[in-house]
Amino acid sequence: MAAIETSGLTKQYDALTAVDSLDLAVDREVFGLLGPNGSGKTTTVLMLTTLLRPTRGSARVCGHDVVDRSAEVRERISYVPQDMAVDIKLTGRENVRFYARLYGVDDKDLVDEVLGVMDLADRADDLVRTYSGGMRRRLELAQALVHDPEVLFLDEPTIGLDVAGRQAIWNHIGALRRRGMTIFVTTHYMDEADRACDRVGIIAKGRLVAVDTPLALRHRLDGERIAIETDRPVGPVVADGLRLVGVEGERQVYHAPDAADVLPALLSGLAARGARVQSLEVQAPTLDDVFLALAGRQDDGGAFDFQRFRTMLRRRG
Ligand SMILES: Nc1ncnc2c1ncn2[C@@H]1O[C@H](COP(=O)(O)OP(=O)(O)O)[C@@H](O)[C@H]1O
Ligand SMILES: [Mg+2]
Repeated sequence: MAAIETSGLTKQYDALTAVDSLDLAVDREVFGLLGPNGSGKTTTVLMLTTLLRPTRGSARVCGHDVVDRSAEVRERISYVPQDMAVDIKLTGRENVRFYARLYGVDDKDLVDEVLGVMDLADRADDLVRTYSGGMRRRLELAQALVHDPEVLFLDEPTIGLDVAGRQAIWNHIGALRRRGMTIFVTTHYMDEADRACDRVGIIAKGRLVAVDTPLALRHRLDGERIAIETDRPVGPVVADGLRLVGVEGERQVYHAPDAADVLPALLSGLAARGARVQSLEVQAPTLDDVFLALAGRQDDGGAFDFQRFRTMLRRRG
């Protein structure tokens, strides 16, 4: 049994299908639900945390149905919403104690422990008013840990934080995962998900269009882009696995499944034409590229382009 399992999970707001037939299993990992604003991330989290009733389909968290067994689910999870309020007129410790009392676990050692885990011990007795955005977010995480959840849901935990603050949050998330927790996190920052998540699900207009490790997703994209500049315009090189995508004067752009495989042929081909290479650039696909390939532009208002998806996401080999 996975910590989170959904089957055809769907939420409709009148005519709008905000989450469409989600099938997912997540267990003891950092799972990132990735998508732009309005793609259905928060709606998914609200259903999984029992706060919103699905229109169709089902979800089980820690083995319990989120509708029929919502109390059992709530005992085992914590949820940090995108903009949760911590009380800035209280100290960090007072905020955590308030939470601990809510959960019936008001134990001084435990409060100290979660503050320590989130690196807030030395500022615990300062007013939250004096905390940075990153410290406030860590305080929210500390609160979420007081009842030792099996599954932690975080909705856009790094939004609005500076680079160091984001890195700290992801480091803490990784540490919780190593303690055996399942962490379900939403974000629209592809680069962060790439580095920090064990697996990601890409959601576009309510539909889950891919689930895999960041590495596997990047590898699904059709290879690499090679931009090469020569000292004079020459004809393109033809070689196995090398596909010319553009020529502009002395600059040629190719695609290849793997640049390393085709570079020798490309370079010797150019040398044979009497051209000297002035610059060479190989770009690996990023999760952003993957997202664009999968979800397309989000401003076109059109339906998901499955043709484009198939063309761009052929698996290698
Ligand atoms: N309570 C609601 N009533 C009607 N539409 C909603 C409601 N909440 C969200 N939506 C719509 O559902 C879609 C998904 O929203 P949401 O789950 O908040 O996306 P995300 O978290 O990815 O930004 C959006 O089009 C949003 O406008
Ligand atoms: Mg949201």
